[in-house]
Amino acid sequence: MNAASSSTQTCPYLVLREPAAVREVLHRPEDFSPANALIAVTPLSGPSLRVLQRARFALPPVLASNHSDSHAGIRKVVAGFFTPATVGAFEPRIRGIARSAAAAAAELLETDGQVDLVQAVAAYPPAIVMLELLGLPVRDLPELKAWSLDSLELFWGWPDPERQLELAHSAAEFYGWLRELVLEAVASPGRNLFSSLAEHGLSTPEICSLGYFLLIAGQETTTQLISTALFRLAEGSAGFAWKDAISGTTARDLIRHVLATESSVPTWRRVAAEDTVLDGEHIPAGAEILLELTGNHESSEQGPTAYGLAFGSGIHRCLGAKLAELEAAVVVQETAAALQGVRLAEPNPEWLRLLSFQAPRTVSVEI
Ligand code: HEM
Repeated sequence: MNAASSSTQTCPYLVLREPAAVREVLHRPEDFSPANALIAVTPLSGPSLRVLQRARFALPPVLASNHSDSHAGIRKVVAGFFTPATVGAFEPRIRGIARSAAAAAAELLETDGQVDLVQAVAAYPPAIVMLELLGLPVRDLPELKAWSLDSLELFWGWPDPERQLELAHSAAEFYGWLRELVLEAVASPGRNLFSSLAEHGLSTPEICSLGYFLLIAGQETTTQLISTALFRLAEGSAGFAWKDAISGTTARDLIRHVLATESSVPTWRRVAAEDTVLDGEHIPAGAEILLELTGNHESSEQGPTAYGLAFGSGIHRCLGAKLAELEAAVVVQETAAALQGVRLAEPNPEWLRLLSFQAPRTVSVEI
């Protein structure tokens, strides 16, 4: 085990890097609970908390942070919306959405001489696909994208108090929008995730909690994966040429390469539920653990797991893994086909760097 523990303020986590240790933690949910999965990395200040309380913002443990017996049943309801068969059957629709985004990007390139691929092709297709699969209305997408980034920064970033307050206002606004959506969806006749969860017995705050996590995780992480993949492709640093990504197999290999080396979700957290032992080392109850899922495994003898842990493992493994991989490969493929002969217009873009999320904020290309 390569564990670096620190009690300094800079790293309050026990950091685990070795794939075998990471996997073991993920497979011992009784000892290593996901209860801290959605806790703010930077503690919320009084003013920020008051903003959230006024919006009745609450994240009771329902799915990703739920360590109780209710997790399995709730997970099954959500999984029903992302079965391999459903995702596979959706591929033509995903390709259609990706193709029109890529065509619009090509037009922008033609008229403006430059286009930001994050906004043009990475941002919206995953959000549209997610909402359609969940049976929810596709609306307010620019707001959803902005709220998602703000909430990721609020919970996984290091904002100063002023910035935190701004982010809390954004999260409160998002939560209010979400509550309306939940109430509307639960009352509507068609099949949708929120009505299925209500039938399963979840309360409105529980559905909002799940929705808050899923409506962000179910699309922004894929946007980020696509952004990094397109950046590395345009940069020519991933070992794949832009023109070769027109092939579906190459696009998929590129996505797996990015997942293994610099995934959009490079780390995830757990907390020791009680005093326990990992690889001969004592871990005290309450120890917060940061699992490096990918990106740091070159020296490991267990090569394949470098990609295999990108979506977690065990009873909380990502329910959108197949969808995310498919979407990312299809968007990259369609973009490579529609925009040939491009190069990076900005080789050093600003990156989003949070505890558990990363991607270039822009990928500007030109002819
Ligand atoms: C590149 C894209 C994505 C990455 C890298 C990613 C990664 C992850 C990771 C690391 C976890 C935690 C796993 C664990 O605790 O063992 C997770 C959980 C989850 N993800 Fe994803 N995810 C992505 C996209 C998606 C999408 C598209 C969806 C759905 C539309 C989704 C839905 C979920 C859900 C529901 C969970 C919680 C599962 C549970 O607790 O039982 N994710 N994801």
